[in-house]
Amino acid sequence: MTQNKPASRYLFLFLFILSCIENAPMDSLDAQGPYAREINDLFWPIMYAGYVIFGIVLVLLILGLFVFDDKTEKEPKNIEGSNVLEVIWTVIPILIIISIAIPTVKVTMDLLKTPENAIEIEVIGQQWWFDFYYADQQISSPNLLVIPINQDISLKMNSKDVIHSFWVPKLNGKRYLVPNVDTYLNIKAEKKGLYWAQCGEFCGLSHAKMRARVLVVSNKDYKTWLIDQTLPYEATQIQDSPIYDGQQVFLNAGCTQCHEIQGFNESDVALLGPDLTHFASRSMFAGSSLNMTRENLKSWLIDPPLIKPGSYMPNLKLTEMEVSQLVDFLMELK
Ligand code: CUA
Repeated sequence: MTQNKPASRYLFLFLFILSCIENAPMDSLDAQGPYAREINDLFWPIMYAGYVIFGIVLVLLILGLFVFDDKTEKEPKNIEGSNVLEVIWTVIPILIIISIAIPTVKVTMDLLKTPENAIEIEVIGQQWWFDFYYADQQISSPNLLVIPINQDISLKMNSKDVIHSFWVPKLNGKRYLVPNVDTYLNIKAEKKGLYWAQCGEFCGLSHAKMRARVLVVSNKDYKTWLIDQTLPYEATQIQDSPIYDGQQVFLNAGCTQCHEIQGFNESDVALLGPDLTHFASRSMFAGSSLNMTRENLKSWLIDPPLIKPGSYMPNLKLTEMEVSQLVDFLMELK
């Protein structure tokens, strides 16, 4: 008869293998900018010192086990009340803690300084997505932060509801987004590409699906992108076309209560959902949890809370026809 092995054994194995994964999109040890590197440069020396101390303790422990085991019948010397030892094991840890504290405080202070030439972009957290607002251009880019390469960016962050945390592991550590309080985080990327971000604070049912991406582009592409994003939507006037029908569904089904499309509608109440003017120009939606495909968009529109539990976007009970028309329209929002 085979023995039953506890599942926890495999859990540890699984966690161990996970820790070995390379090129993980959220690898916090793979710094791609000066702020993340500063954290790594603090982390590794402390880690190595920890390895050495761990090694010394382990060797002493094993030596102790063999020297004073049952067979040798050696009794260790009684050292209770030794002043010398008391002083050594009090002073050494204090020195270690001080030598960790000084660089840690310095790095923490450094990371809080906003560089003079930094571009400021606002980050507004809400359940469960990030809005990136470019105040100078008055554009909103939900869940996709586009920044130029080798440029200091100062993120001015706030929350509309509960406490969230913005975290792009390859560009910096995480920082809270707190309602009614502005917090700041610097990022700077030295390589073009797409960097994953994630809400780092449990903030409700769909916390895990509160993701975002940082797209790092050349200076020229950044300027082009900004101009593209300021362009309003030009509504089609051709009646009886799928896009026209989709526009009508958008205006009449309740979407306009929470969503704005520049040049097309103003939201009826306080803006709750993402600005959709350039919706289809992003390759993901729903807090960067779904790829921008017709199929995904359809399943999303049929029942949003089914895909993102707790979602404020309700099931609007749209017919199959309405969903299809809405998809045709939304896919036009480039
Ligand atoms: Cu927002 Cu977790």
